[in-house]
Amino acid sequence: LENGLARTPPMGWMTWQRFRCITDCGTFPNDCISENLVKRTVDALVRDGFKDAGYEYVIIDDCWPEMKRSGEGLLIPDKIRFPNGMKALGDYIHSNGLKFGIYQDYGTKTCAGYPGIIGYEELDANLFASWGVDYVKLDGCYADPKTMDEGYVAFGQLLNKTGRPMVYSCSWPVYQEGNGIDPNFTLIAKHCNLWRNWDDIDDSWSSLASIANYFAENESRIQQFAGPGHWNDPDMLIIGNFGLSLEQSKVQMALWAVLAAPLIMSNDLDAIRPEYREILLNREIININQDSLGIQGVRRKVINNIEIWARPILPKNNDFYSFAVAYVSHRTDGAPFKIQFNLTEIGLTNSHGYVELDVFEDVISSTIKYPDTLLSVIVNPTGCVLHKFIAF
Ligand code: GLA
Repeated sequence: LENGLARTPPMGWMTWQRFRCITDCGTFPNDCISENLVKRTVDALVRDGFKDAGYEYVIIDDCWPEMKRSGEGLLIPDKIRFPNGMKALGDYIHSNGLKFGIYQDYGTKTCAGYPGIIGYEELDANLFASWGVDYVKLDGCYADPKTMDEGYVAFGQLLNKTGRPMVYSCSWPVYQEGNGIDPNFTLIAKHCNLWRNWDDIDDSWSSLASIANYFAENESRIQQFAGPGHWNDPDMLIIGNFGLSLEQSKVQMALWAVLAAPLIMSNDLDAIRPEYREILLNREIININQDSLGIQGVRRKVINNIEIWARPILPKNNDFYSFAVAYVSHRTDGAPFKIQFNLTEIGLTNSHGYVELDVFEDVISSTIKYPDTLLSVIVNPTGCVLHKFIAF
């Protein structure tokens, strides 16, 4: 969507994956979807360097409103959990230099059963603008996927009509794929800033691996539609939660960088361990993710169950791009495993060679790597290595 927004993949934080639809603030006072959760996260984003690293959008996912609209048809934020309303919360987010995102659903109800937009499209778009919303995630439960080509476009136009710039995150293709409709990605990229392609991520390696596999197997269908203003979205970063090891967390960060994926964390920033925070704050990886060419990387090769993913990035030299290359192991046999290959095999053909930087180790190799140099990389089980090859 050419609305001047999301020129690089959006970065931020969202409630859903970690905090789901917790509405019982009695049992879960720190975790329920509430003003308190949003404010403490804003404070952590600022305090712990996330804001400085580029994480910007603070997005309230499902389960924020009352179950019933007002007499005039307006959505009402849950009175107990958001006692000061959304305008005030938006002001808090903005006063900390961050941006405000909210969730709604294209259908009659949200996935968790709260009121959806059907019949109230214009009211909701205007309400969001009046609250100072900067980002809308529009889900697709309780709706007919056949009508989405029209309905999602129409709601985007209503957002645009408010005059307030809002990033538009669509779930349109994932509901169509699931219902046997081949999504029209040309149309989707024209009308959305990002869109969910596949299943919801949950807190596990298997979920992460299956999403990555979807991106690899469908790259010929989806890769070309990513670029400044319009991104494929493999879903939230789950780093710092319960399900991923440290190695697996590196995989998610490296892969999401190579995929030019939105970096939207869903985690408890007050409870995250420092070594996980460090992964999320790694500037070199964020720079790869935010590379201004905006080219989505692809899986170029698989050797002994270790995938090699590559993404062209700047700087460009002698007409050759630099590359970010992630080696992702799906091996579970226990020992670090060595693979050997040369750069030509993965499409890096600059005859002047490349300077190799190991991104996680922060080590620059002392030798230039030429397209025919035999390279050896040792990758930990369900772990990864990320290299940057700078065109020489
Ligand atoms: C769907 C979406 C999730 C989340 C939930 C909320 O499953 O894909 O990202 O928004 O709905 O109910």
